[in-house]
Amino acid sequence: MHLTTDEERVLAGDEGLGRQKAMELLVALGDIYDADRLIPVVSAQVSGASFKTIGEAGISWLESMSSEARASVPAMVNPLGLDLERWRSMGVSEDFHGKQARIVAAYDSMGLLPVYSCTPYLAGHRPAAGDHLAWAESSATVFANSFIGARTNREGGPSALAAAVIGKTANYGLHLDENRVPRVEVRFEEVPADMAPLAGYLAGKVAGNRVPLVRGLRMSEDEHKSFGAAMAATGGVSAYAFPKEDGGRVSDTSHIEECTTLGIEDILRCREDLRGDDDWDLVAIGCPHCSPRELEAMAGFLRGRTPSRQGDVWFCTSRETYARCPEAVSILNRFGKVLCDTCMVVSPIEDRYCSTATNSGKAMAYLPTLGRQRASYRSTEELLEAISR
Ligand code: F3S
Repeated sequence: MHLTTDEERVLAGDEGLGRQKAMELLVALGDIYDADRLIPVVSAQVSGASFKTIGEAGISWLESMSSEARASVPAMVNPLGLDLERWRSMGVSEDFHGKQARIVAAYDSMGLLPVYSCTPYLAGHRPAAGDHLAWAESSATVFANSFIGARTNREGGPSALAAAVIGKTANYGLHLDENRVPRVEVRFEEVPADMAPLAGYLAGKVAGNRVPLVRGLRMSEDEHKSFGAAMAATGGVSAYAFPKEDGGRVSDTSHIEECTTLGIEDILRCREDLRGDDDWDLVAIGCPHCSPRELEAMAGFLRGRTPSRQGDVWFCTSRETYARCPEAVSILNRFGKVLCDTCMVVSPIEDRYCSTATNSGKAMAYLPTLGRQRASYRSTEELLEAISR
């Protein structure tokens, strides 16, 4: 990979050990993927923020970086293992909180922004079409590439942090036109867009890690958010295209090698397979983090109703969205907890719950493994009906 004179200086350590380590990492990645050069990024989003997912080894690495490295572009962080304000009410232990606090302190001292969310694009950090990014969270990556038209690979935590420090990333993968061309088509027939989490769950299995062209679903922004998240979880999809008639952009379809059609019967079968049982310890909504529209729509449904459930209910969102929707938050807080900075997958729910119901295709992919839960899929409306009367 070609480096400029300034980049060579950073690599030689002339600008300190932190920038040198970050540059070494970017150069190694660039060499592996045969990148021609480094390109500037508008922002970074770093994963590996919950003590549950990174453990002691992750803390040690972050603390070693934090004494030497500083972010040089706006850099956000993925959800933590707890709500920084309401962690006691989540049942999180003092010990876990102490470890989590060290992670937060390390990111703080590196100058990362205290935006602990998988939806940074709803929290004041929405890129523009064509912007190059270094984002790590899979659901944010697929949303940025596909709905917004920005360009990012699905970074790992360390490579996103290195990009935050240098302000650049290696020019390969989804930064290049040729890798954004769809190779497979997934066509939905008579599938309503509000079944996006299930549609994404199935489409991810079809697409694997290819870029699919998705036809036949005319989705809202929030439905794209759920759809892409599920597809990135069951497959390795980091970008999809969708045609003009579904609200997308024109895309080159000349490289499509395979087409799969999914009808309503496939979606209903998937819904049945994911139905699980009715015996839930926790109802968890907000994977990816709820948007203002979603919080307000749920509050509108629940306004005038009363809570009907003993078990816990979580609505996960970003702190920015929480602050923007005080009225909706106060209604939802009567039926459960509106939690910020965290989610049902990266918090230690397995310490407290065994069975979780969710409206998220992505959470259905991760709750049984990372969360050690019996997981049950229900639509948002079914969950709101279940928690109220
Ligand atoms: Fe976000 Fe957690 Fe889901 S990070 S996409 S709410 S698994």
